[in-house]
Amino acid sequence: MKKNIAVFASGTGSNFTYIHDSLKSNESAGRIALCVSNVDQAAVLTRAADYGIPVRVFHRNQFATYAEYARDILQTLQEHAIDIIVLAGYLVKVPSLVTDQYAGRVINIHPALLPSFGGKGFFGRHVHEAVINAGVRVSGITIHFADGDYDRGGIILQKALAVHPDDSAESLAARVLKLEHLWYPRIVRDLCEGKIQRRNGKIIINE
Ligand code: GRF
Repeated sequence: MKKNIAVFASGTGSNFTYIHDSLKSNESAGRIALCVSNVDQAAVLTRAADYGIPVRVFHRNQFATYAEYARDILQTLQEHAIDIIVLAGYLVKVPSLVTDQYAGRVINIHPALLPSFGGKGFFGRHVHEAVINAGVRVSGITIHFADGDYDRGGIILQKALAVHPDDSAESLAARVLKLEHLWYPRIVRDLCEGKIQRRNGKIIINE
């Protein structure tokens, strides 16, 4: 049985597209069964709809309480029989009700080398600006299990690249994004195949 994946995204969804394309073959162990966003006009929703993938948008302010909001997200995931949650540029915190229920089955990608340049406020160009302002010589990507905190939960993979002296946030972001497109689909596939697990806080990777 293929694993059902929900991709949570707020933006353009380039990672969504690369993951979708890499899972398209019949032999793959997973399929994107749902796209979740918090932005009505997010381009990722159009991409998902083009592929015939159901989409759902959740706004915290449409619910009387945070608990109802969290319950509705969880219930939607259960209705779509979601096994794995892949965060790909989702700009709001996933409620801990959901991450607890899906412990060890939620992953995120961050466009820098955690634990540096991560946490609240570090998203999009803010990350790359901070990297350049700090004068560090390397940056890269971090793919990690996600829990209720921003950018936390056990590192699965990191890939580094050089920061060039003349880099702008844009030029660095473009090179980092290429690394994301190369590695995130592979990790999603490995997770679907059971090759990556989180047990008792430890990350176990079987080649
Ligand atoms: C990526 O840079 C990812 O690292 C971050 O959000 C961005 C999403 O980009 N978490 P896209 O929407 O997949 O193009």
